Amino acid sequence: MSIVKNFLEFPKSFLWGTASSAHQVEGNNIHSDWWAWEQENKGKILAVKEKKFKGQKFEPSEKCLDHYNRYKEDFGLMKKLNNNAHRLSIEWARIEPKEGEWNLQELEHYRNVLQTLKDQKIKVMLTLNHFTLPSWFIAKGGWLNVRSPYYFKKYAAFVAKNLGELVDFWITINEPEIYMSMCYLEGFWPPQKKDVKSAGWVYFNMARAHRISYKTIHKIIDKNFSKAKVGVAMNVMSFASYKKHSFLELFFVHAADRIVNHSFYDLTKRSHDFLGVNYYFRVRLKKSAHGFMPIVDEVSEEESELSDMGWVIYPHGIFDVLMDFKDFNLPIYITENGIATEDDAQRSKFIINHLSEIHHAIRAGVDVRGYFYWSLLDNFEWDKSFGPKFGLVAVDRKTMRRTVKPSYFIYKEICENNGVAL
Ligand code: BGC
Repeated sequence: MSIVKNFLEFPKSFLWGTASSAHQVEGNNIHSDWWAWEQENKGKILAVKEKKFKGQKFEPSEKCLDHYNRYKEDFGLMKKLNNNAHRLSIEWARIEPKEGEWNLQELEHYRNVLQTLKDQKIKVMLTLNHFTLPSWFIAKGGWLNVRSPYYFKKYAAFVAKNLGELVDFWITINEPEIYMSMCYLEGFWPPQKKDVKSAGWVYFNMARAHRISYKTIHKIIDKNFSKAKVGVAMNVMSFASYKKHSFLELFFVHAADRIVNHSFYDLTKRSHDFLGVNYYFRVRLKKSAHGFMPIVDEVSEEESELSDMGWVIYPHGIFDVLMDFKDFNLPIYITENGIATEDDAQRSKFIINHLSEIHHAIRAGVDVRGYFYWSLLDNFEWDKSFGPKFGLVAVDRKTMRRTVKPSYFIYKEICENNGVAL
C-alpha cells in the first residue's frame, strides 16, 4: 500500500533549478564596489540587522566558494539534481573593469560557463546586475548619476551581442528595491547612505536602466536569435495586518504592498515579458505601542517559525503574492525562494510547503512556469559573510569540498518526478 496520499504534479516543461549570484560564489571579484568595501571592513563588527549574526567579525568574500574555477563541478551537482534550468549572474566589474574597456578574457570565461550549462541541457536565466557594481561606476556616483542608465545599457548591449545566443531568460536587475533600501535608506551595504532623496533617485534611475536595456536587448536578440524574454527579479513580501479589522494597519498593509511589491512595475510598465518573484517571508504590521512615530511596527517575535535570518516562515504568503500578480497576465518564475537554517530538515519542509502553495496557485489559474531554490551552495551572504546557510550543499571553505545535505535529495526527487509527493 502506498503511503503517498497526494501527488502534486506540476505543468509539463516546468523549470526546476537553483539560483545564485556571481559575487556570492565566484571569488576574487576585485574590480567591484563590494570588494573594496569588504577589504575596508575586514575583521570589523558590522551593524547587521539580523539578531543571530550580530557581533560576528566580518569576513570578506576573497576566494569565496571558488565557483569561478569549479563551475563544472557545481553544474554537475545541478545535473544530478535533475535540474533543467539555472539562474546565475555575471559580473559587470569583470567584463568592464574600467569604463569602456571590455575584458575579452572574462567574456570568454562566461561564454564557457554558459556553454557548459547549454551542453548539459540546462536553460540559462542570466542576471546582468545582482547588487555588485564596478568601482569606476560607483566613482561616477553609481545609480545617482543621471547617465547611469546609459552606462548600464552599454554593458547590457555588449553582453547581448556577445553571449546572447546562450541565454534563455534575461534579468536586468535583481531586487532594485532591496538595493535601494539596504544601500541608500538603511545604510547597511555600500555606499552606506541614509538619505531618502538619494534613495528615490537611485530607484528612479534603476527603473530607467531597466526600461532602456529591455528595448536594447530585444533589438539585438530579436534580430539575431529567437525572441528575447526579459524581466526583473523583485523581492516580493506578503504583508498582513496584526488585527484583522484594524483600519490603520490595513491602510499600511496596502501602502507597503504598493510601494515594496508594485512601485518598480509601475515605473517600468510594458517592459516585462515575465515576472520574477523572489519570495522569502511575510511581514505583519501592528499599530505601534510607542506613540506616534513609527505608526506601525513589524511583528516577528510572536510568529511560530522563523529562519536563522529572523524571517517569518509563511508558505501561504507565496500563494497570496502569486494571486496578486495574476492580473499582470504574464508568465511567472519563482526566481528565488529559500531558507537560512542549520536545521536541514526545516529546509526540506520549507521547500515542500512552499511548492504545495505554488501548486495551489497554479490550480487557481496563475501561470507559474518555474522554480529556482536559493541556493545550491552555502554562499557569501553579503554583510553577514558566510554565517547564514541557505544551501542544499555545504562547502568547506578550506578545502572547497562540497557535501550534499539531505534536503538536496528531497529536492532531487521533486525535480525528477516533476511534482511533490505529500
Ligand atoms: C538576494 C540574494 C540573497 C538572498 C538571501 C535575496 O534577496 O537576491 O542575493 O542572498 O536574498 O538573503
